[in-house]
Amino acid sequence: MSAPRPNPPMAMLAELTHRCPLACPYCSNPLELERKERELTTDEWKDIFSQAAEMGVLHVHFSGGEPASRRDLEEMVAHARDVGLYTNLITSGIGLNKRRLDALNECGLDHVQLSLQGVDSEMADWVGGYKGGFDRKMQVAEWIGEIGFPLTLNAVMHKKNFDRLDETIAIALDMGARRLEVATVQFHGWAAKNRAALMPTREQAKQARLTVNEARKRLEGVLVIDYVPADHHSDYPKPCMGGWASTGINIAPDGAVLPCHAAHTIKSLKFDKAHEKPLKEIWYDSDAFNAFRGFEWMQEPCRSCELKTKDFGGCRCQAMAIAGDAAATDPVCIKSPLHDELVRQAEADSEADADLVYRVMPT
Ligand code: SF4
Ligand code: FES
Repeated sequence: MSAPRPNPPMAMLAELTHRCPLACPYCSNPLELERKERELTTDEWKDIFSQAAEMGVLHVHFSGGEPASRRDLEEMVAHARDVGLYTNLITSGIGLNKRRLDALNECGLDHVQLSLQGVDSEMADWVGGYKGGFDRKMQVAEWIGEIGFPLTLNAVMHKKNFDRLDETIAIALDMGARRLEVATVQFHGWAAKNRAALMPTREQAKQARLTVNEARKRLEGVLVIDYVPADHHSDYPKPCMGGWASTGINIAPDGAVLPCHAAHTIKSLKFDKAHEKPLKEIWYDSDAFNAFRGFEWMQEPCRSCELKTKDFGGCRCQAMAIAGDAAATDPVCIKSPLHDELVRQAEADSEADADLVYRVMPT
C-alpha cells in the first residue's frame, strides 16, 4: 500500500540566503553554506511564491541566514503579498534600519519574528559572535513596535542561557511581543558541532518546563509561549515537521526543495531544484518527498507502535545522524535500541565545558 496523497503544504520556509552578520553556534544551516553567487535570483524566487500560492500554501516565512542581507527582500515580500501569501520575516534585526522596516511595511509585510541571542549585551554578543548586536536589536525592536508589526520573539535556549529563562520572558513582555518561542537547541547543522558547548542538563530541561508552565498561566491573554523541549532528555520524540513532507516545504538558497531544513543530510535522497521542476510535481510525486510519508516505510518498533500516528517515528534527520539510517526509530525514543547510548552521550555533553564553535561563511 503506498502513502496517501498529501494535502498541499500550508507553510513555506524561504531560505533566501545563508549570508548573515551573526555567527550563532546553534545555527541550523548546513555546514556547507551556499555562496552568494549560487543564490536564486529575484525572478526565480517570485516565480516560486506564485507557484506556492497557486498550489495552496498559506504562509511564507522569509528566512536565512539573515534575509535582510538580500537587497531585493522588499520586492519579494511585495510579490508574495500580491499573490495572496501571509508574509513573515524571520530576522536577527541586524541589517535592518528604520527606512527598510518602513519599506517592508509599505510592501505589506504581515509579521516579524525577531531572534534573541541573550538577555544582555554580554551574553547576546558573545553567543551571536557580533559586538554591538544586542543594542542594535533593541533599537530594531523599538522600531518594530512603532510601526506596529505583530512580533514573535524567538529564543534558542541551551546550557549557557537556560538559567535566564525568566529574564527572556521579561524581555518578550518589554518588547510587546505577542508570542515567544522558547526553543531548546536542536542539534542539526552547526549546532551538531556544539553539542558539548550547548547541551542543557536534565535539571535545566526539567526546570524550563516548570518555568514555561507557570508563565503560560500567569501571562494568559498577554503572551503566548511556544515551547520546544529538550528532546535528548525526553523518553519520546517530537513529531518532527508534523510528519515528513506533510505540512511544510523548505526552499534552500540554491533552490533545493526540502521537506525540512536538515533533509540534505540524508544522502540517499535526491532533492529537486524549484527553478528546474514545478513545485507541485516535487511536492506530490518526487521520491524524496514520498520517502517517509505514511507508515509503510517504518521499521520495528515504530511499525507496530500505537504512538506512530502521533509522532510519526520522530525525526528522520536525527535518526540519520545518530542511527545512520533515516528510516530507523528516532533514538530519542525509549523503545529505540540506541536510546540508552543517546542519554549517556547527552549527559556527558551537558557536563562538558567546551568553547563555542561559531558558524563561518566560506571565503
Ligand atoms: Fe514513536 Fe516509534 Fe517510539 Fe513508537 S516506537 S513512540 S512510533 S518513535
Ligand atoms: Fe528533518 Fe526532523 S529535521 S525530519
